[in-house]
Amino acid sequence: MVGGMKSSIVSFRDYLPKKDAFTTELIFGLSQADKSIPCKYFYDERGSELFDQICNLPEYYLTRTEEFLLQEKAAEIAELLGPEVLIIEYGCGSIQKVRVIIDSLRNPVGYIAVDISPEHLRIAAEKLAQDYPSMEVHAICADFSNSFKLPRGLTRQRCVGFFLGSTIGNFGYKHAAKLLSQIAAHVGPGGGLVIGVDLKKDESVLFDAYNDASGITAEFNLNLLSHINSQFGATFDLNDFEHEARYNCVEGRIEMYLVSRRAHSVRVGENLFYFAENEKIHTENSYKYDI
Ligand code: AVI
Repeated sequence: MVGGMKSSIVSFRDYLPKKDAFTTELIFGLSQADKSIPCKYFYDERGSELFDQICNLPEYYLTRTEEFLLQEKAAEIAELLGPEVLIIEYGCGSIQKVRVIIDSLRNPVGYIAVDISPEHLRIAAEKLAQDYPSMEVHAICADFSNSFKLPRGLTRQRCVGFFLGSTIGNFGYKHAAKLLSQIAAHVGPGGGLVIGVDLKKDESVLFDAYNDASGITAEFNLNLLSHINSQFGATFDLNDFEHEARYNCVEGRIEMYLVSRRAHSVRVGENLFYFAENEKIHTENSYKYDI
């Protein structure tokens, strides 16, 4: 802390698309024969809280496995990255996992937090700035699946992207490749990337991770409808849908759906959508990779 003053973030940029763009995308997904809603809608304030709870579930092995690996390899990663690193974290969530690396780095100069959930992002970035007053902390609220610009003029020896939690798995292969190209452009020549990718494994382990006994993942999936109700004035009744997650071994991915319990209609703005009994809304893919 400098002179007893608390540090705070240097800048907060809001690059979220206008509501109209979101509405068009939503209406498009619900108008298809196989209905879908993009998984980025999970992350309103409540959704981000539920995701934090998922990360602590006994069945959700991803977070603790990655934390263990980061802890085990922190010194080696820090050595490879060198001094005066500028970190950009894509989908930073609560900004917890990266701290073990920051603690091992020699004189890290800055941290840019990128996330889609504005309230959650601001709180997490402020907390980081207070805990690491010698680092310049910036926050960018963006849908990082689209391109966006970084703050200019930040000095560093090396810029390194962190893309943890197997978030890359939530993108199809083409989109994932585009995202990696964008990260390469952000970090520039000599830059780096630390990425966490979940691997294919026993189907029952995968199934349980997305069908936890305490029902948090189900609540996370259903909360997407609450988010859409409050943001777009939709009339989804959460009691009319149930959570489904299953492993598609042909595509190598977990697929999440919300399944309509009965035939009914839902209004989204001016549009009325009909749901047959057992009709599904595809809400997320989580691709599992092999080496
Ligand atoms: C953020 N993402 C990597 C998580 C996953 O495992 O695909 C989101 C999630 N969905 C259900 N549980 C967790």
